[in-house]
Amino acid sequence: MAASETRSKRVVLGVTAGISAYKAIEVCRRLVDAGVHVAPVLTPDALRFVGVATFSALASEPAQSTLFDASQAIPHTSLGQSADLVVVAPATADFLARYAAGMANDLLSATLLATRAPVLVCPAMHTEMWEHPSVQETLATLVRRGVAVVPPEEGALAAGDRGIGRLADPASIVAVVLGMLGSNGDLAGRRVAVSAGGTREPLDPVRHLSNRSSGKQGHALAAVALRRGAEVALVTTVGTPVPAHPRLSVVRVDTAAEMEAAMAIESEKADVIVMAAAVADFRPVHVAGRKLTKDDGIPEIVLEQTPDILRGLVAHRRPGQVIVGFAAETDEPVARARRKRESKGVDLMVVNDVGAPGVGFDHDTNAVTIIKESAEREVPLTSKEAVAEAVLDEVVELLDRNDGADRARGEDS
Ligand code: C5P
Repeated sequence: MAASETRSKRVVLGVTAGISAYKAIEVCRRLVDAGVHVAPVLTPDALRFVGVATFSALASEPAQSTLFDASQAIPHTSLGQSADLVVVAPATADFLARYAAGMANDLLSATLLATRAPVLVCPAMHTEMWEHPSVQETLATLVRRGVAVVPPEEGALAAGDRGIGRLADPASIVAVVLGMLGSNGDLAGRRVAVSAGGTREPLDPVRHLSNRSSGKQGHALAAVALRRGAEVALVTTVGTPVPAHPRLSVVRVDTAAEMEAAMAIESEKADVIVMAAAVADFRPVHVAGRKLTKDDGIPEIVLEQTPDILRGLVAHRRPGQVIVGFAAETDEPVARARRKRESKGVDLMVVNDVGAPGVGFDHDTNAVTIIKESAEREVPLTSKEAVAEAVLDEVVELLDRNDGADRARGEDS
């Protein structure tokens, strides 16, 4: 196993003025128990429900609640800059609205504005407030910006009410936080480079040749690898927003040539390479400098082959590196993929029969066969996340096998 990080992760725990603020004490304690450095920040009104003294006693550093603490010149920037994650639990309707509006009128909202760390909010409020379009639109805005949400649960609320709006259970919040920090998955300490989407090969300044790849399978692979603790580089052609994550870097590319360059850089550090992208096989030899018009007559487009990125990566494989290819086939998918695995020299070839219903391009579901050296594993129609889990299970097995072979060589010498 590669060395795991030694610096403990820093979490700013924001607490706002909800009756469930008392549960944040449990979140704080459990995170500290899990080895996380917790810096609590309470809004001034949260102090009506819980006290600074409690959090200071349990957390990794004294709790703060004001922008004007004499001991620190600019706490709103220093807290946000050093955080690996900011979690707000409970997050009231008022606080979410202020955060979405970009206000910075207390230490917590200012910290959120001054951070580039991923943010997790855990709303809690009465059912009527939770269901109000204003709150739902605020949340949709935050989600679009990449903020993660642990939604409230159904159950007893303050003042004898029942319904949805109760702060999620502290254990569930802590599980999500630890998942986002990713310290204990079976890919912890591993670097995974994933390519996703269809490349676009320009014809002229406004037109390109492309394919129907949505990038969803590649993005699901990146998300699952993160959940399992990996450091992930996602090289993607599609502009779909990807939630920010402390262990994720995203490189946006357009053409096969750009993807080749980006993957070459990422592969130098990667333990695992997954080429899930649908790379164009051909591109126009000449790209017109200006838009082709009907007045020019019907253009004759001469195509040339794009570089085979996967073959290049295999040729420069680092010792122990696991390389996975994807294949979309319509005829005899398994037989063709078996031959392709051999000829491309990859460890695993994941093939989808794109002619089958619900499979491959544009769908949220997929069905694949994972071709291994001496066996095959079928994954029947399921979500792209479940396919990603199955592929990464096989990857982990190969990484462990390669680690074992390394150890054996070390003992022999
Ligand atoms: O040969 P075929 O295009 O079916 O191979 C598919 C696999 O090869 C995929 O993993 C794809 O990402 C990769 N590929 C590549 N460069 C190309 C074409 C495909 O890396 N030019």
